[in-house]
Formats: sequence, C-alpha cells, structure tokens
Amino acid sequence: MQEFAGKHLFVAGGSSGINLGIATAFAQSGARVSILSRNPDNIEAAVQQLRAAGAAAVSGFAADVRQYDAVAAALAQAAAAHGAIDVLVSGAAGNFLAAAANLSANGFRTVMEIDLQGTFNVLRAAWPHLRKPGAAVLNISAAQSWLPMPMQVHVCAAKAGIDQITRTTALEWGPSGVRVNSIAPGPIAGTEGMARLAPHAASLQAWTEAVPLQRLGTLQDIAQAAMWLCSSQASYINGVVLPVDGGLALGGSSAITAAMRPPA
Ligand code: COA
Ligand code: NAP
Repeated sequence: MQEFAGKHLFVAGGSSGINLGIATAFAQSGARVSILSRNPDNIEAAVQQLRAAGAAAVSGFAADVRQYDAVAAALAQAAAAHGAIDVLVSGAAGNFLAAAANLSANGFRTVMEIDLQGTFNVLRAAWPHLRKPGAAVLNISAAQSWLPMPMQVHVCAAKAGIDQITRTTALEWGPSGVRVNSIAPGPIAGTEGMARLAPHAASLQAWTEAVPLQRLGTLQDIAQAAMWLCSSQASYINGVVLPVDGGLALGGSSAITAAMRPPA
C-alpha cells in the first residue's frame, strides 16, 4: 500500500514467521521498519530480508519483551532513528504443548510473561513514541483466546489477556487518535507456531480439517489483513480482535462436523 511509504513500522517479535511476514509486506511498500527480538542471528537475517524487500530503512534491536527497560530503550532508539511510530505490531510469543496437570508454575509464568506482560511492556513503552493522532497498534492474538484447547492452558490464558489489553487500550487511546486492534491468525503453514502445535502429519491434517475452508493459512493471508487493518481504509475500526483463520474461530470441531454429515 502506497500510504505506508516512508512510514515507521515497529514489530516486536519481528525476526521470523508471521510477524516477519507482516514486516516484509510493509517493507515492500517502502516503510521504514524496526524489528525487535532476542536472538541476534535471527535479527540479522531478518534485517537482510527486509532490506531486500525494499524497506526505506531497517533497524534491528536485540531485547527480551519481558525486560521493560530494554524494550523502552529499543523503542526510544527506533523513534530517534526513524521518527514517531506509525504502526506498532506486538507479536512476540512462546508456545509448547503441555497438559495443565504437568505444566510447572515456571512454565506457565514464562508464557504469560512473554505473551501477556510482553504485550503490555511493548505497548506501554511505545506510547510516548506513537504518532498522535494517526498511529495504528496491532496485537497478535490466537484462537486460543476464546477456544479452550487441551495442552494450551498457558497460551489460552495469555492470549485472552492480550485481547483485553487490545480492548482497554483502544478505549483509552482512541481519544488521542490511536487505534488498537488485533489479528487472531488461524493455523499458518510453515511457521514455528504450527510446528509446535502439530508436530506430526496426522495432527497437521486434523488442524487443516478443523478449518472450514479446509486449508492452512499463509503468511500473506495474515500480512494482507494486518496491512489493511492498520491502513486508512480501516480508520473507523478500533478495539476488534479479527480472526484471520478460514473460519476456525466459529468453533465447529471437525469431530462434530463429521458427526453431522449425512451417512454416505
Ligand atoms: N513442556 C513443558 N514445559 C516447558 C516446555 C515444554 N515443552 N518448554 C519449556 N518449558 C518450561 C521449562 O521447563 C521451564 O520451567 P521449569 O523451570 O519449571 O522447568 C519454563 O518453561 C521456562 O523454560 P525456558 O526454556 O527457561 O524458557 P525460555 O524463556 O528460555 O524460552 C520458551 C521460552 C520455552 C517459550 C521457548 O520455547 C521459546 O523461546 N519460544 C519462542 C518461539 C516460539 O515458541 N514460537 C512459537 C510462537 S506461537
Ligand atoms: P515465531 O516464528 O517463533 O515468532 C516469534 C517471534 O517472537 C520471533 O521473532 C522470536 O524471535 C520472538 N520472540 C520470542 N520470544 C521473545 C521474547 N521473549 N522477547 C522478544 N522476542 C521474542 O512464531 P510464529 O508461529 O510466527 O508466531 C508469531 C505470532 O503469531 C505469535 O504471537 C503467535 O502466538 C501468533 N500465532 C501464530 C499462529 C501460527 O499458526 N503460527 C497461529 C495463531 C497465532 P527470537 O527467538 O529471536 O526472540
């Protein structure tokens, strides 16, 4: 989208997967792109990809979203280098499969701190640097925020909390001309998240069948929705959690769908 040429996009968790897909789409539109994640090698590889995609400028910051001061320092440096933030994406997350009865307290806390506290840290630290009026904030949620899933108590709790951060900040920041929305991706092919959720071919097949459109999503599916939601075309949309998931959020499990099929 032409409107993002020269605009400043900051993506927390932007060095791989879905978030890098979003950053790449903005880079192709000529945005100035800042990304933050922990691993310097991941950051360097992503910076190269974003430059090659056509970003007007790229900066990478190594920080853990659990460390507020480090996040705040990165956001301040990014704003000093590229100006006020026009689009902020908060998508850093961690996931693994663990049954509630076996998950350690530290395992639960770890995901809550990366996903939920991390999202608060990113939004709170970004606030002084957001363009007012005009900035768009995008949090990355998941179907787990309203569909309970076995082995996902930590993610379900964290993503549900993120949705309430989205709604609350949309209320508080709307008067300053800052919109806050969220995308809840469905199962996206080729991502670390799906590798962890569906480690076997059979579970990947079951995930595919749980989507009414009967396919996994792509990085482009999410990037295009993200760009639209942050654009002037969506200028009256504030505080929504938008499923981009082929209908997974409708919650019809593949077992029920199969049970309701007429006999052959
Ligand atoms: N099953 C159960 N518990 C697990 C686990 C698993 N597969 N993986 C980690 N944990 C627990 C650890 O045992 C530890 O708890 P303990 O001290 O009681 O043993 C706790 O979680 C923290 O683990 P640690 O490895 O120290 O965390 P970390 O901060 O280094 O890494 C993770 C965070 C675990 C989420 C790591 O997988 C990660 O960095 N993920 C990012 C990438 C990702 O998940 N992408 C998908 C996004 S949807
Ligand atoms: P991914 O490739 O593992 O992306 C996670 C990103 O976050 C990486 O850049 C990672 O880089 C960074 N990160 C992780 N922990 C961090 C921390 N503590 N501090 C700073 N950065 C951190 O995963 P993905 O599958 O694309 O998922 C991206 C987002 O989409 C997540 O919010 C996830 O919950 C959501 N989602 C994914 C799917 C899916 O199908 N994949 C479905 C629904 C929702 P470093 O390792 O360098 O820190």
